Amino acid sequence: MPRKIFVTTALPYANGSFHIGHIMEYIQADIWVRFQRMQGNEVHFVGADDAHGAPIMLKAEAEGITPEQLVARIAAERQKYLDGFHIEFDNWHSTHSPENTDLSQDIYRKLKTANLIYTKSIEQFYDPVKGMFLADRYIKGVCPKCGAKDQYGDACEACSSVYAPTDLKDPYSTLSGAQPVMKSSEHYFFKLSDAKCKEFIKNWLGTPGRLQPQVANKAREWLDGTGDKALGDWDISRDAPYFGIPIPDAPGKYFYVWLDAPIGYLASFKNYCQKKGMDFEKFLADPDTEQLHFIGKDIIYFHTLFWPAMLKFSGYKVPDNVFVHGFINTASGEKMSKSRGTGLSPLRYLDVGMNPEWLRYYIAAKLNASVEDIDFNPDDFMARVNSDLIGKYVNIASRCANLLKKTFGGVTSNLYRDSTLLHQFQAANVDIALQYDSRDFGKALREIMRLADIANQYIDEKKPWILAKDATKAVELQEVCSVGINLFRLLTLYLKPVLPSLATNAEKFLGIHPLEWKDASELLPAGHVTQPYRHLMTRVENEQLDALFEIDKEPAKVTTSTPHPAAPVKSDVTLPPPQPSPAGAREGESSGAGAPIIKIDDFAKIDLRIARIANAEHVEGADKLLKLTLDVGDLGTRQVFAGIKSAYDPATLVGKLTVVVANLAPRKMKFGLSEGMVLAASGDAPGLFLLSPDAGAQPGMKVK
Ligand code: 2FM
Ligand code: ZN
Repeated sequence: MPRKIFVTTALPYANGSFHIGHIMEYIQADIWVRFQRMQGNEVHFVGADDAHGAPIMLKAEAEGITPEQLVARIAAERQKYLDGFHIEFDNWHSTHSPENTDLSQDIYRKLKTANLIYTKSIEQFYDPVKGMFLADRYIKGVCPKCGAKDQYGDACEACSSVYAPTDLKDPYSTLSGAQPVMKSSEHYFFKLSDAKCKEFIKNWLGTPGRLQPQVANKAREWLDGTGDKALGDWDISRDAPYFGIPIPDAPGKYFYVWLDAPIGYLASFKNYCQKKGMDFEKFLADPDTEQLHFIGKDIIYFHTLFWPAMLKFSGYKVPDNVFVHGFINTASGEKMSKSRGTGLSPLRYLDVGMNPEWLRYYIAAKLNASVEDIDFNPDDFMARVNSDLIGKYVNIASRCANLLKKTFGGVTSNLYRDSTLLHQFQAANVDIALQYDSRDFGKALREIMRLADIANQYIDEKKPWILAKDATKAVELQEVCSVGINLFRLLTLYLKPVLPSLATNAEKFLGIHPLEWKDASELLPAGHVTQPYRHLMTRVENEQLDALFEIDKEPAKVTTSTPHPAAPVKSDVTLPPPQPSPAGAREGESSGAGAPIIKIDDFAKIDLRIARIANAEHVEGADKLLKLTLDVGDLGTRQVFAGIKSAYDPATLVGKLTVVVANLAPRKMKFGLSEGMVLAASGDAPGLFLLSPDAGAQPGMKVK
């Protein structure tokens, strides 16, 4: 019986573009889904944007647009990435949708009926200027232990002590700078600590084959925690203003984003069912249906405790599996996860014209069923792709195809005396299928490449190019080429989940229907006509990797006309050093403040512009830098790394106007390209003060 499977990947927040961490997850899931389909299984693979929550609301506000507009802008760019990497979701939807509202409210009502919802008044910091309750990340103050300034509400970066935001001395809101006040409000709680919930989760976690062992162990630790580590109930409400789904019969209360986010899996599937004329309820009610989620290791908590319990006690189907992967790291060891999306820019990868299937292959070769991180190492990437895909796999076709075409019109032999080899390749399908099914892609690819080596050895031994010189060896030549082409066909079948586009081209050359897994039991029939061979894949070139990582260079081949600010990679942790004095300065002559006198013409060379800080974020691993995305009006968007971390919390900068040197030569830094410099004042005393224009100035205006 074919399996019926509903597959999802984690829903990305709709406030930023995909980065390599997302793409890795989607490639993993896409390979698995393609494999299952080749097996004849029915698979429905859906994704969606995770649209709700305070960060999205605040970001939209800072940009002067509605959250819906922000979400729509991000959604509009998704397909380019997905198509680019051959990631074939059946549906892409949004958690800000009628389906998700209905489902979330329905699940909530059912949990309430099951006596798992209660309300309780809690006291929280409230920003009286902004008029909203403050999540911990929006509160800073003086560490109660060591006295360090500007520490977040949950832990001190200076002395590592952990505390509650209410313990901070001189707390302030990073949104407005105001001193927060304590205010109480009624919150809604999901009673996760209820004995029936805990009992259910315990059994769910313990079902064999459901979770990777390390994932189940981690979840069990949380479930069985005692004392201050005891599993608490879950605060599922947020007060207005909030961008979210209203809680029924609770004016001014919204579901916390993490409540409706996973329900977005069902919402996207429901939306897809509506489009396809499928019965959503019936599909999920069928006990033979499987529900699987691919996620990263940072969100295990939500997916192994709350999510199954919410579904169970609202009468929905519970997940059969949650497949967890690690992060992808750059060669330098920087983490590239969802939250720390630096490093290899997927958009730039496509823009410089690199083959998406190289990346699919490389990632697949590194992946297994564990939760370990994987590394992207450019040299290893090039060596592996060139050696395996070009040197081994494609080589088999190119060694046999032209000889077969030239001598026999592409017609295969009716003689397979070397059938042991063919049978060995056919029989390998069983193990390779098991490895794909268990997500041990690295092992599957190692086995496939071992077979490719054997195929090449066979051709080396038979030397068809020598046979071709002797007319009396024609029968043998046709047989050898035909065996080679058959081996190539089987390898194509095995690689197809990873290399779908190459497989399609190979199928054209072979003159066959799209390969399915069961085709491993067959060979090309005697007298089959193959089509003219065209080279199936080019090698990775050094220059392409340079273009991918060397940001100073123009993309080697730009396949899109849309410029983008995506900025992969390496830089220093420091600001760009001061540029040399402009040519023409009268050396030695001082303005009285140490800098040489310049002429008005010199000053005019500096293109100073008003910029709106569209986004500001911390830079993983950088002590001093913030990464700013600047809206410079007509000049477009710029990314600038500014050494102002000591003085500013990124959240307070978003939306502010400042002044940028717009014609400073871009500098490649460890963390990406810096495309300008923002102006700040500083003196001998501590403190750093960003310049800002008077009210009325607009992004892009010249400062002169
Ligand atoms: O961590 C994140 O990026 C979340 N947006 C993932 C949500 S997964 C699911 F619950 F929607
Ligand atoms: Zn401290």
